[in-house]
Amino acid sequence: MIISTTCSKRSLCFSGILFLFTILPFLSRGDDGYRLWLKYDKITDTAYYSMCQQHLQTFSIVGSSKTLQVAAKEIKKGFGGMLATNIKEVSSGDGQLILTKYKDLHTHLKKQFRQDNPFHEEGYFIRSIEEEGKRKIFIVGQEDIGVLYGTFHFLRTVQTRGRLEGLSIRNAPKLQWRMLNHWDNLNRTVERGYAGQSIWKWDELPDKIDERYIDYARANSSIGINAVAVNNVNASPHILTQEYLEKLAALADVFRPYGIRLFISINFASPTALSGLSTADPFEPAVQRWWNNKIDEIYTIMPDFAGFLVKANSEGQPGPQDYGRTHVDGANVLARSLARHNGILIWRAFVYENKGNDRVKDPYDEFASLDGQFLPNVFVQTKNGPLDFQPREPHSPLFGALASTSQMMEFQITQEYTGFSTHLVYLAKLYKEVLDSNTYTDGQQASVAQIVDGTLQGQSMTGMAGVSNIGDVQNWTGHLFAQANWYAFGRLAWDHELSSKQIAKEWIEMTLTHEPKAVETIVAIMEGSYEHMVNYMMPLGLTVLSSEGHHYGPQPWRRTGFHNANKEGIGYNRTSTGSNAVAQYTEPLQRKYEQVETCPEALLLWFHHLPWSYQMQSGRTLWEELCFKYNDGVEGVRQMQQQWCAVRQQIDTATFEQVDRLLAEQEDEAVWWRDACLEYFSQVSKLAIPAEYEVPRYKEEDLKKKEKQSQNLKHYSVAR
Ligand code: GCU
Repeated sequence: MIISTTCSKRSLCFSGILFLFTILPFLSRGDDGYRLWLKYDKITDTAYYSMCQQHLQTFSIVGSSKTLQVAAKEIKKGFGGMLATNIKEVSSGDGQLILTKYKDLHTHLKKQFRQDNPFHEEGYFIRSIEEEGKRKIFIVGQEDIGVLYGTFHFLRTVQTRGRLEGLSIRNAPKLQWRMLNHWDNLNRTVERGYAGQSIWKWDELPDKIDERYIDYARANSSIGINAVAVNNVNASPHILTQEYLEKLAALADVFRPYGIRLFISINFASPTALSGLSTADPFEPAVQRWWNNKIDEIYTIMPDFAGFLVKANSEGQPGPQDYGRTHVDGANVLARSLARHNGILIWRAFVYENKGNDRVKDPYDEFASLDGQFLPNVFVQTKNGPLDFQPREPHSPLFGALASTSQMMEFQITQEYTGFSTHLVYLAKLYKEVLDSNTYTDGQQASVAQIVDGTLQGQSMTGMAGVSNIGDVQNWTGHLFAQANWYAFGRLAWDHELSSKQIAKEWIEMTLTHEPKAVETIVAIMEGSYEHMVNYMMPLGLTVLSSEGHHYGPQPWRRTGFHNANKEGIGYNRTSTGSNAVAQYTEPLQRKYEQVETCPEALLLWFHHLPWSYQMQSGRTLWEELCFKYNDGVEGVRQMQQQWCAVRQQIDTATFEQVDRLLAEQEDEAVWWRDACLEYFSQVSKLAIPAEYEVPRYKEEDLKKKEKQSQNLKHYSVAR
């Protein structure tokens, strides 16, 4: 039942007719979204176009590695598109644009960069330099990969209509590993994937290289992603068979020129599953031999293989605890074996018991005491919050608690709990909120970002992973705006100090439009979208109100253990009188969360169980505030619909319509969430929804019907 009209239906009156005859001919009519943010459409601003033309008639590349070749290809593609004319490649050093490694610069030029050397191995400079009366632009990398990153930066500068005069850019990533984790199964289903099937066509590999793999690598490299784990953390042992290793090697070959290293998720019980060993006990010599041999085999096929990602003793996956060993025991055996080839082991901290205890305490309880015991090539990968990628959680208390362990942040890009690929939700706001959270680990200012980037505790390896939202649908991510989440994740993994707004603006200009008013409006849509979603799904720190299994739609009546709503009140008491999860945080954070007066209202019901009559800062009671938030969330979506309508004339028609249609669905689903949750909480609390709010669209009967329908949504499967 979709009630909310789309913009197209609402307004094909005068402005629509005007649009058809005046503006439409100038817009492309059917962008399919495949090109992502690397569109390279012709520059239509004539002044900017001629300035670019003047500066960019020729280019030269110093060197001939595969990475430099793909940089040259990208320059040709990018400027060939944006200038609609070929940019000519000329011999070394003669071009107006020069791509080179620092060590290959002429000595007299080296001086110009000297103060910046030595430099980060993935870093680059972009500089305008006057040479023999000619103005030249240099993209200088410390290594080839820096040249490629610099190339993408320069292309972005032009795509976002940046100045080309007086360029003086020096850039390097803040984190070493910037990684996508695909939850892709070998049968091409994608766990928590909402954009079609897996892009990896295992049946065709290694013989056939799909063009999409190359475009995937280009897109990732353009935002600095340098590692991917290609298969699900709920891993099939078969990924380690020779057959699959050969397929993986073909993918690694595609990724290599783009500076992307390949990881795989492995199943801890592989020795038993693949070779019939009677145990996978990591202390058993036969098991260690098995891993050594397997890892040697992998490195024979892929000498630069990056390593393993492991989900162990979590949600039914096998692990060292099955044999009375610890996470350290299990991780170190694999890490020792990988270390012989400079490989890395990423061990996930997503563990919980589900035995009636407060599961959010489990990751900290299991891992904090293991600090300092992992080998140097081990990362502990920690989800941003202590529960499970909920719309809003406090940061995991493990950030700060592992001073002597390299810790990798894990965010979710795929929208498992944040609206699938139907809802426009710009997740950079969530990422920033977490990264900017103060852990107080080391006195006054100790943000999660400072822990993740190693500046605070000096860890030797640093990294950030995002669970991919990519599939084989034409536009990669389903919702066009979900592309922005992939983009933003990469940009923040490179530089967490960028603002969500700045990233949104870049992405819009590269993907949608350059018209300033429209850019501003779309930035506003994106920036507001996260809070709207929190409000219509799980406001005030509520969690897991979503359906069991597929997690689509509301089902608060089956999630009572998460919200604890009863006649008296609602919320999870995690203070010292409850589960005492607050004790896992450092002071003064612990006290701040413990005391209801100082606990941020956005996390109130995460930490406290409160009476419905509790007085909120707004002057409303808790019940009234909940009603207000749910309604406000719905209103927020309606506002986004209006804002989107306002930019219609600046957006490609097909893109506009897709987003318009999805916003209408989002509005309907926001109402569904609101009605289901308020209806349920109203029954439990015996309090009526105040009359000032909208009459529910979904009555009890409708809610039951919707719930039943959603249970049958096969495409939201979690098949492993
Ligand atoms: C969530 C998600 C699972 C996933 C798990 C994980 O629980 O629903 O599908 O496997 O996280 O991160 O391992």
